[in-house]
Amino acid sequence: MTQLSDQVHLRPEQLDAFWMPFTANRQFKQAPRMLTRAEGMHFWTDDGRQILDGISGLWCCNAGHNRKPIVEAIQRQAATLDFAPPFQMAHPLAFELANRLVGIAPRPATPADPSLDHVFFCNSGSEAVDTALKIALAWQRVRGEGSRTRLIGRERGYHGVGFGGISVGGIVSNRKMFGTLLAGVDHLPHTHDLEHNAYSVGQPEWGAHLADELERIVTLHDASTIAAVIVEPVAGSTGVLIPPIGYLQRLRDITRKHGILLIFDEVICGFGRLGAAFGANRFGVVPDMITFAKGVTSGTVPMGGVLVSKQIHQDFMVGPPGAIELFHGYTYSAHPLACAAALATLDVYRDEALFERAASLEPVLARLAHGLKGRPHVIDVRNLGFVAAVELEPRAGQPGARAFDVFLRCFEQGVLVRTTGDTIAFSPALIASETDLERMITTVSDNLAKVD
Ligand SMILES: Cc1ncc(COP(=O)(O)O)c(C=O)c1O
Repeated sequence: MTQLSDQVHLRPEQLDAFWMPFTANRQFKQAPRMLTRAEGMHFWTDDGRQILDGISGLWCCNAGHNRKPIVEAIQRQAATLDFAPPFQMAHPLAFELANRLVGIAPRPATPADPSLDHVFFCNSGSEAVDTALKIALAWQRVRGEGSRTRLIGRERGYHGVGFGGISVGGIVSNRKMFGTLLAGVDHLPHTHDLEHNAYSVGQPEWGAHLADELERIVTLHDASTIAAVIVEPVAGSTGVLIPPIGYLQRLRDITRKHGILLIFDEVICGFGRLGAAFGANRFGVVPDMITFAKGVTSGTVPMGGVLVSKQIHQDFMVGPPGAIELFHGYTYSAHPLACAAALATLDVYRDEALFERAASLEPVLARLAHGLKGRPHVIDVRNLGFVAAVELEPRAGQPGARAFDVFLRCFEQGVLVRTTGDTIAFSPALIASETDLERMITTVSDNLAKVD
């Protein structure tokens, strides 16, 4: 019997059943963009075209596609231990992976800094965020501060699509359809300001003072009601917003002063994207928890998790030894295939020094990206680590349409980039060559002149 997946071209009626996520379904199904194979820096389409992947799949395949050691580790694991129940049972790879992750987490720089010594596993960035928020609320309660129920996010923040994540997130379209969300959430202002920060190379100099808005929020609600603040060190999905110099340190100082937990959502920043294991390592600011996903398995098997401070973990480890300390977890927490994939991925990152490679190519990507200044429609270029973005003037009354046209043209010419609103983002795998980077940026540059 013919399997649907064996057919190269699907007929229109065969496209109907799958309700695609974050996609204009009707438009897509009129002219599908179908990927059937991947290797290294490239995808191949169903009509045999090679596509240079300028966005690591979706900010996740940081080691490149179909890397042999990772593929083989997954295959071996599937044939050895396909599943192990994670509640009251375990398998050794989960412990090995937790230790490896703790080993690359940022270390305390001062005695006041947390030591991120523990990992809670889940399956995605959204689950990681909800897990971190739940740990924050529960921790405030176990230490006798149960009145601290308020969570603070940031405008334009993206923290996935769970109810916790969209509540602390700050993207209107992701929030407005879904009712009242979590109660008791407030938001910091975002730091994106073209008047002051346009065309900054690396971190903008202006904007650290925006962290002081947290003091205003604390004054409004009182610290005794606030459990945690969550921010992306570099906000990716909302258009690559780079933190101003000193901004994250100020958030750390203010949260510490008021007994508020600081959570860095590093689902995009982690695993080399900023030229270090985590953004926290690069910025020298140690939060109380770090959420991660995507690059932990280089996108091969779904996995997410939360790095948690020693203090938080220790405060849960009380009561009768037979009591479950945290009523939270997923059937697939620390799934054996995901653990095997993650361990092999961490080996590849280490053996090929990919985080260092991203750091050494940062100036090349920065130079190429900032070369887009002055091209038609461009109003800003931003970069940090192995991520860059170009923001376009929106077409009157059609936000996002111009950037989407550029995206479509680039795809037709064999280069995959990503748009959010009128921002085009570049986040290539850490194995990208200078030639790959050049092709990616040149293709966008050429097409800027071709769209109205
Ligand atoms: C910062 C951040 N948090 C959370 C998520 C959600 O991750 P997932 O799509 O794996 O649920 C994303 C996804 O892009 C993200 O960028």
